[in-house]
Formats: sequence, structure tokens, C-alpha cells
Amino acid sequence: MLDPSVFAARRQAYMEALGPGAVAIVRSLPERVRNGDSHYLFRQHSDVAYLTGFPEPETTVVLRPGADGERVVMFVRPRDPELETWDGRRAGIEGARERYGADAAYPAAELDQRLGDLIANCEELHYALGLDPDMDLRVAAALARLRKSEKRGKRPPRAVVDPRAALHELRLHKSVEEVAILRKAAAITSEAHVAAMRAGRPGTFEYELEALVDFTFRKHGGAGPGYTTIVGAGENATILHYVENRCALAAGDLVLIDAGCEYHHYTADVTRTWPASGRFTPAQRELYDLVLEAQEAAVAAVRPGVTLDDLHQQVIRRLTEGMVALGLLEGPVDARIEDLGYKKFYMHGTSHWLGMDVHDVGAYTRGGKPRPLEPGMVITVEPGLYVAVDAPGVPERLRGLGVRIEDDVLVTAGGHENLTAACPKRVADLEAICGA
Ligand code: GLY
Ligand code: MN
Ligand code: MN
Repeated sequence: MLDPSVFAARRQAYMEALGPGAVAIVRSLPERVRNGDSHYLFRQHSDVAYLTGFPEPETTVVLRPGADGERVVMFVRPRDPELETWDGRRAGIEGARERYGADAAYPAAELDQRLGDLIANCEELHYALGLDPDMDLRVAAALARLRKSEKRGKRPPRAVVDPRAALHELRLHKSVEEVAILRKAAAITSEAHVAAMRAGRPGTFEYELEALVDFTFRKHGGAGPGYTTIVGAGENATILHYVENRCALAAGDLVLIDAGCEYHHYTADVTRTWPASGRFTPAQRELYDLVLEAQEAAVAAVRPGVTLDDLHQQVIRRLTEGMVALGLLEGPVDARIEDLGYKKFYMHGTSHWLGMDVHDVGAYTRGGKPRPLEPGMVITVEPGLYVAVDAPGVPERLRGLGVRIEDDVLVTAGGHENLTAACPKRVADLEAICGA
């Protein structure tokens, strides 16, 4: 979908941010065994995908902004007709150069022998320590070898710098092309949620809805879910990361689905909560109306200059006022905010960065303080309330109810654009769809 010039421009922007004294190593994560000799489906590390679009495992990208010739160096799996017959096509050395923009490309097996020369004498080595112990050891070995060769004119980098410093700042600010892809991911995701609302009724299994959501993603060209889909009916909706998805919907249940389509390496992240039988009960409405009001108010507040912490504090206050009014918490409101009593029913954050990773990269603070939003950032807004079925001292009518409402919001110069506005969340709309 993206033209090679887009990746070239990203690499150029990254190299400008690095400056001539720095070198960056970006690498795919190892393939993982699922069981026996089966592997989990490989999905490229987002940093590698961002800079090259190269989809294969065992890929290392070395960017050298200060080099005369070979500024973009890739190590990839070489062509191998016999292995390709078993495991699929490879771009190979030539493909990396001709289709993926490498100035030079080498077989993955030559990484260790070449890495030292590629990073020698730079000031900063930008590399994500701690993700892949095997690669950490290989980088450390290259540094150790360079320490011994200083008299021959090759010294190790002065510092190892986390990719958050430069690369993840670029990924945090979405370009026009990235927003277009996220918009598509959002549109497919909205359609999938509506398909689940239409199909779900008492007796439907949670996994059927998961499969329908996945099918809808794939039917529209998505890669599948960008994170494990959550389908929680009844009290399962009160478990934040419920992914078993194995129960049947019962009459009168609320159904919480948190699912986002990954499209060209970018994922949406949307949650909707709706009545399995087509109508909210009065008690469900009490909780749902409160979460929806808090969610809409927080979305409305998104604009440049506001911080994610501002949004969170606003949501906490509104939800806590509502929880006191509903009898979930004892007042006063300020005391329950002060002593974090609200966390019994609202225990997660309101927002996170969204992009290639569902919890996308980018620093959340500047100088120890929450950073102001800027145009081009994409965030989620996702308040919820979760009343465990055995929570002590709560009104009977609210036990076992879980509600979350989550949209994906682009910060614009003038305020914001809700990328998932097409996904219904008003009570009348949900009842019309679910009751049909
Ligand atoms: N689906 C993960 C989240 O909402 O943060
Ligand atoms: Mn989220
Ligand atoms: Mn989510």
C-alpha cells in the first residue's frame, strides 16, 4: 500500500534526527515456537516495518547517517530455492536493495562479522536493549571487540541510546499516509463491531463473535486483529483482559467486545458494550449512561495542549461522581478521588498512544510532567466501569456488570477527529442494531 518513497522519507527523517554522529540498529524479533514444530505467525517488529516495510524475520537494519556511501544497510535471509519451497518466498539480498531501499545488503549470517565496522567510532548507538537477549549479546560482543581495537582506530560508540529518543518520536507523530491507513483500520473495525452486534443474541458463543470480527477484518483486507480480541458476556465483561471467549451469551447479558483491525501494520483499538437481548435493563443503563457521558466529554476535550493526564483526571472525577450517586462508592467525591477508592471499579488508564502497536511507542512525559498533545498524535479514549460479581458492599442490581467504551481519536490543529465515530455507541442506535 505504501510507496517505497514513503519508507525512504521515514529513513531520511530518522537519520536527520539521529545526526551524523549516530548509528541505529533496528531488528526483527525472533520467531516463536507455538508448540511442537509450529510457530506463531510472524509479524514484523513495528520499528523495522516503519523504516522499511520489509516483512521477513531475521532482518537487521543499520542506519548510518554520517556514512559516505552505505547509509542504509540490511541483513536479510538470502534466497534459497529449497527452503523457499518449504517456508515461502524471500526477497533476498537483491530484493532488499532493489525493492526495500538498502544501499547495501548482506546475508543475515554475516551480521556478527560486519557489525563492529558498521558502528565503529560513532558517538551514539541507538538500539533497543532488553528486547532480544540473543541480539543484546551480539551487540555487546561487537562493542567488546571494538574496545580492543581502539589503537587500530576503531573504538566503540560513546553511548547506547534508547530508540524512544528519536525513532519513537517520529512514530508518535502520524503523517498523512499513516492517518489514512488508521482511518481504514478504524472503518473496518467499526464494521466488524456492528456485524457482531447484529449476530450476537442469547445462545451465541463468545468465540463465534470473535470469529465473525476476525472474518470481517480479513474480508476487508485487514491482517487480522492487532491484539487479542476480547469478547466478554455477562460477568466476563468485568475481567479486563478476558480472552478465553468461550462462554455463551445469556439473555439479559451485556456483551463487551474490545477488538481492532490491523491494516498495513497499523491497528485500531475499539470497545463497544451492548445488550445481548437487544434492550439495556434499567441497571445496565445506569452504568452505561455514566460511562458514555464520561467518554463523550473526554473525547470532546481532546485538542492540542491538553495532556492525557488531564483527560484521565476529568474522567476520574465524572465517574467518581457517578459512582457515588449510584451507590457504588460512599462520598464525598473528593475523598474517593484522593484515596483512589474509584480504582475498585475503574482501575485502568483512560488513554494511550495508538499506531503500529496497540499501546504505541512514544514518551508520555516531558521533564517528568505529562506532555501536551500535538496535532498528528492518535490516542484512545476508553473509560469503563467494572463491578465484580463478588464485590463487597455494592448494590445488587449492579453486580457482574462491565462497561467500556473506547474510540480512536486523532489530534488535529483545531481539536480532534474521532476516527471511530462510525461505530455506534448511543443507546438508541445499539438497541436498534442489537434488537433487529
Ligand atoms: N485493547 C487494549 C486496550 O484497550 O488498551
Ligand atoms: Mn486501548
Ligand atoms: Mn481496547
